[in-house]
Amino acid sequence: MNESFSSYQNEIYLAGLDGVRPRYPMLHAELATRAEAVLPPWVWSYVAGGAGDEQTQRANVSAFHQWGLVPRRFVDTTRRDLSVELFGLQLPSPLLLAPVGVLGICTPDGHGDLATARAAANTGVPMIASTLSADPMENVAAEFGATPGFFQLYTPDDRDLAESLVRRAEKSGFRAIVVTLDTWTPGWRPRDLATGNFPQLRGHCLANFTADPVFRARLNHPPEQDRRGAALAWADIAGHPLTWADLAWLRSLTSLPLVLKGLCHPDDVRRALDLGADGIYCSNHGGRQANGGLPAIDALPAVVEAANGAPVLFDSGVRGGADIAKALALGATAVALGRPYVHGLALGGTDGVVHVVRALLAELDLIMAVDGFPALADLKREALRRVS
Ligand code: FNR
Repeated sequence: MNESFSSYQNEIYLAGLDGVRPRYPMLHAELATRAEAVLPPWVWSYVAGGAGDEQTQRANVSAFHQWGLVPRRFVDTTRRDLSVELFGLQLPSPLLLAPVGVLGICTPDGHGDLATARAAANTGVPMIASTLSADPMENVAAEFGATPGFFQLYTPDDRDLAESLVRRAEKSGFRAIVVTLDTWTPGWRPRDLATGNFPQLRGHCLANFTADPVFRARLNHPPEQDRRGAALAWADIAGHPLTWADLAWLRSLTSLPLVLKGLCHPDDVRRALDLGADGIYCSNHGGRQANGGLPAIDALPAVVEAANGAPVLFDSGVRGGADIAKALALGATAVALGRPYVHGLALGGTDGVVHVVRALLAELDLIMAVDGFPALADLKREALRRVS
């Protein structure tokens, strides 16, 4: 299994002997440039943009550069173990695909959620499927194969609808519910504001709602006949600003593991765990929601300490295998990839996502091989120093 991650390198070099070059870029910057060239400008703007002048979004990425891994020698790393246990699941690697609510419109056929789910099936890397998708969750989950999937819930302002979404996720076989806490209202996003561009309000990626009996019962006309009416009805109930008082209700909704996404303060982490959360997801939404915040990776150590052994997922700014290694060394249990896999999806559908995932995991695996960390457990806080 371990060979399989770094073997992507051998595959590429061997194909090179026959003059075959990789179809997709190896580095994130080129992935992004090429994705921009193929995506419709309004989709690109939504994927690439962030809050305010995007300072936090950029800092998420650059903050990783302030940490350096210190290699250890005379360690046998011929075999590496990247596997991790999460919520009782045995995963081949610590990588996850972060929820992204516009996957559907990132492929020309409008089924980018299904393409991503197939990439999850192919790589064993779980997809956290967004509430906002172009295909209903039942169809997305049907593509997961043997790879487990998690469902990300945006809590609507209607408890019956929230419950219906969770029941459907349970029935579809999702293995955890990830509730996102930082997006009950969209943040101030100048790129999209400049063109009046909000994809869901235009009726995109609302299949989980338009397929839902509770949501449909709220409509005057079926969404198939009145797409605009359905989108406006969605906007009406889309965001529920959760408070601590809601957490007992959220917890009561499901016996699946409950993960809370968007926690960055240790006090919030302690309280969430006290109130029954099973996992913490440290993230600032890739800097899309509020500008002026800390880089997410800077929030991670205190979150991990407060989690006191409970699983901590992390995202925001992960662009390569070294970033995954650093987040793990700072205590993350698993690390989720955001924009880079969306770029791969835009370039090559399932194949593009598989490429990006394999490239990141190969890089992580090879860093562990070269730097003397045979298992994830060896990637500890002591493996890192601040770059001076
Ligand atoms: C997101 N993200 C997100 N998160 C979530 O919980 N539900 C969602 O539907 C979405 N939608 C979404 C759309 C797009 C276009 C992006 C880029 C991101 C946030 C996502 O899960 C993750 O937190 C960030 O993508 C991490 O930042 P980076 O690494 O992509 O910069």
